[in-house]
Amino acid sequence: TAASPTAAAPRTPPGSPRGWDGRPDGSPFPAAYRTDEGQPWVLPVVKKVEQMIANDNSLNHEYLPILGLPEFRANASRIALGDDSPAIKENRVGSVQCLGGTGALRIGADFLRRWYNGNNNTATPVYVSTPSWENHNSVFMDAGFKDIRTYHYWDAAKRGLDLQGLLSDMEKAPEFSIFILHACAHNPTGTDPTPDQWKQIAAVMKRRSLFPFFDSAYQGFASGSLDKDAWAVRYFVSEGFELFCAQSFSKNFGLYNERVGNLTVVGKDADNVQRVLSQMEKIVRTTWSNPPSQGARIVATTLASPQLFDEWKGNVKTMADRVLLMRSELRSRLEALGTPGTWNHITEQIGMFSFTGLNPKQVEYMVKEKHIYLMASGRINMCGLTTKNLDYVAKSIHEAVTKIQ
Ligand SMILES: Cc1ncc(COP(=O)(O)O)c(C=O)c1O
Repeated sequence: TAASPTAAAPRTPPGSPRGWDGRPDGSPFPAAYRTDEGQPWVLPVVKKVEQMIANDNSLNHEYLPILGLPEFRANASRIALGDDSPAIKENRVGSVQCLGGTGALRIGADFLRRWYNGNNNTATPVYVSTPSWENHNSVFMDAGFKDIRTYHYWDAAKRGLDLQGLLSDMEKAPEFSIFILHACAHNPTGTDPTPDQWKQIAAVMKRRSLFPFFDSAYQGFASGSLDKDAWAVRYFVSEGFELFCAQSFSKNFGLYNERVGNLTVVGKDADNVQRVLSQMEKIVRTTWSNPPSQGARIVATTLASPQLFDEWKGNVKTMADRVLLMRSELRSRLEALGTPGTWNHITEQIGMFSFTGLNPKQVEYMVKEKHIYLMASGRINMCGLTTKNLDYVAKSIHEAVTKIQ
């Protein structure tokens, strides 16, 4: 028989190499919001706008422009940077509608590889936090970067941010290195720098000429406030940085499978931004040619109408508040049980995920004996908790911690 032309492709082992948080059998472990009934949630405002779109006979399925729906792009960047952003007023903000936050990271990475710090400079170091969302590494590697490094972020003993480690990695990084920063709700640790710590980070990055590439996948979801969750990005802009910000609307609109993202580009001046966008247009053309419209229409319509915008903020707050409630309920149960250790980190962390501090053996016990699924790192999706299973989960954590060292 003739040799198979695809025979060289090895089968990837099940689980994480597929690029998602997988259960041992390879099925996805949903990094998504769930209601107190454990169900996916279609935001009421999304349902309403979907019906408006379906009833609007002026809409059709023509191709969108390569860079995407103009009203989506402008409104998406506006919520990242704020209504009164000096950069928007000075006309030095551009955007590219992308396929989710992942697509925005990828288009940004492809651009940087081609045109940042020289021409096709694949040697520019790219720094990713330890730990981080695992796709950060792969996206930048696949874009051609050869020197992906890690920076200190999580202090396991303290169960908090390792600020000194982080700042010292920045001090040592070569000039013009790229740093991927989680805008809010750091995945997987749920631990963000405070505003004062962000100021220290920005000061070092400015002095050392490091490039901030923000990943904003959870705006509104972390604190319930869009403005609070965008504080870091806006501060960096106010400090005069040129930066990229990959925005995802998967979580805060619950539009996971519609692939709605935006890459916000803040440049030195209008001319710079136009040149960057013209190159990004070329990259998009050979990547997905032009983006899909449904999700972008939903987001654009919602953001453009003051009334729908308010409804959306209410929906986002519903999700954020449920997560915050589950955090405080879990912590108080563990404290009431007298579970060894401190549990304040559960309520201090924000966003969808929590680093419980359980070690791999304790995690194995949770999975095998209790059928509670969490990552080997001890990361749980807070949305898996409901009023019905809180007691069971707390008791199981208690058992894991007391029985297994
Ligand atoms: C930190 C981070 N960045 C990016 C993404 C990707 O978002 P999207 O599904 O919009 O591509 C995620 C999703 O889990 C994430 O956690």
